[in-house]
Amino acid sequence: MKFLFINGVNLNMTGRREKGVYGTRTLSDINADISAHFAEDECLFYQSNLEGEICTRLHAAADEGVDGIILNAGAFTHYSYAIRDAIASIDVPVVEVHMSNVHAREEFRHASVISAVCRGVIAGFGKDSYILAAQSFKL
Ligand code: DQA
Repeated sequence: MKFLFINGVNLNMTGRREKGVYGTRTLSDINADISAHFAEDECLFYQSNLEGEICTRLHAAADEGVDGIILNAGAFTHYSYAIRDAIASIDVPVVEVHMSNVHAREEFRHASVISAVCRGVIAGFGKDSYILAAQSFKL
């Protein structure tokens, strides 16, 4: 299968920020683990701190034969109607991912404006949230 893993704002700081919440492995380390886990599949990776760039990447995936998108939008999750509409505008299924259990954290993290247009949501399993989300496309 062909997977696209998209990480949004501040996820480039993974491994360096709030290590107690997000762990000590960098995004590159995590992406390497994902590639190793899905060695039989094609894994594409994209990260941006810019909302519009994430929308553009989502649009492009519709023409690339991507089977599934695994999206950790970071804080954009909680307020980006633009990303919500970008997900709704493509036929490729998207699974929303969070490394932390957002429901056990601050109130503002409990709301997601993208969940309703995603196939499902995986949260709270650290870096393995990405793997669990991609695995869901193989069920
Ligand atoms: C996050 C949770 C978000 O609330 C936060 O803004 C992030 C990361 C997670 O992976 O747990 O940047 O999406």
